[in-house]
Amino acid sequence: MPGPWPLNAERDADGVLHVGGVSVTDLARDHGTPLWVVDEGDLRERCRRYVSGFPGVEVAYASKAWCTVGILQIVDDEGLLVDVASEGELHTALVAGIDPAKLIHHGNNKGESELDRALEVGLGRIVVDSFDELERLERLAAARDTVAQVWLRITPGIDAHTHEYVRTGHDDAKFGFTLSLGLADQAMLAARDLDHVEVVGIHAHIGSQIFGTDPFIANADVCLELMARWRDEHGVTLTELNLGGGMGIRYTHEDHPVEVSRYGKAVLEAVSDACGRLDFPRPRLVVEPGRAIVGPSTLTLYEVGTVKPLPGLTTWVSVDGGMGDNIRPALYDAVHEVMLASRASAVEPRSVTVVGKHCESGDLVREHAPLPGDLAVGDLLAVAATGAYTASMASNYNRLPRPGAVLVKDGQAHELLRRETLDDLVSRDVPVR
Ligand code: LLP
Repeated sequence: MPGPWPLNAERDADGVLHVGGVSVTDLARDHGTPLWVVDEGDLRERCRRYVSGFPGVEVAYASKAWCTVGILQIVDDEGLLVDVASEGELHTALVAGIDPAKLIHHGNNKGESELDRALEVGLGRIVVDSFDELERLERLAAARDTVAQVWLRITPGIDAHTHEYVRTGHDDAKFGFTLSLGLADQAMLAARDLDHVEVVGIHAHIGSQIFGTDPFIANADVCLELMARWRDEHGVTLTELNLGGGMGIRYTHEDHPVEVSRYGKAVLEAVSDACGRLDFPRPRLVVEPGRAIVGPSTLTLYEVGTVKPLPGLTTWVSVDGGMGDNIRPALYDAVHEVMLASRASAVEPRSVTVVGKHCESGDLVREHAPLPGDLAVGDLLAVAATGAYTASMASNYNRLPRPGAVLVKDGQAHELLRRETLDDLVSRDVPVR
């Protein structure tokens, strides 16, 4: 089964899908739907594959992919660092009990209070994204009489050929110091004159859901050439390099992502070639995958509520969630594999379009899904690879409560995220009469 499904997903003799040894019918009965079902064994295994696939490299989990206390505790247990990109993600990591020294702080517009909290708790590395931030950080660090150790975020001019909304490494981007415009050099020179900011390395993240190793190799080359040039031209030898995340995963059987070990080998070879060629000492290396750690571990369970066949047109299948719990199809034209999960069916598949229950035509779960012709109200559908950028981008559009999540392992299910209640939905509303 696996393909895009969690490693510990399989059907029993009656065709009912089990994840981590728990049947989806039991999960739906006990926890309701929609439900994010996280295969703990899969999540831990992805962490381990990164740690072993990148020997001598530190792996940071990009928590924007899914930031909850429980997920962060699991990746921390597995020895990963954690990257946070807001005060909320930072707060979650601190509540999860993660050593602040293991945190990396990103963001193209970190506010005063956010940066100050990072300095207060002694966060590991801050990734400086702009000249304004450099100035802000110098001022805040001076006030605390401390020195912030930072990486400069470089925009390396690499086009990673992924969806326009998830590209970050090309020149005209909102993130970082554009290398080709000389801004990276200017930032490094400006930082050299500061007393409370010490640049110890650079960071470059080129985009997301990238297949193939070439863009990552190009990124390593560009970064090391820059570091060697700064040594030669300015006498500045940086010792740390973060090559970002962005490794693609399988959302359907047609996706063929690069194996972690191949990806690790390619990057490490590129780094040692470049270091040899440039006679540059091998820096401390960090990579920061998000999607590839948590994405494949999770599926979403929905219950079918209506089936509407339009003769000669589309058969519309509506489920009890949608764009509120997974915005990816609407936002990126993302295609997630779907299956009938609560029973087997010997009936020929037909092409149906699975939609959510939000008041919007773009509320797609999956267009043209081949699902059994006897699909009926009450059936459970599973949607694959929904661990990354679904819960973390969820909304309450139409005031749908956001789903809960369970962690499954060895036949046991534990709540990871409580389902929102109707009262939660009005808990921030202030009456005016
Ligand atoms: N590092 C930085 C600085 C990032 O901006 C990101 C993702 C990552 C690491 C992790 O990238 P990953 O390994 O997860 O691809 N919502 C979009 C993806 C946005 C990615 C944002 N930055 C989606 O659902 O496809």
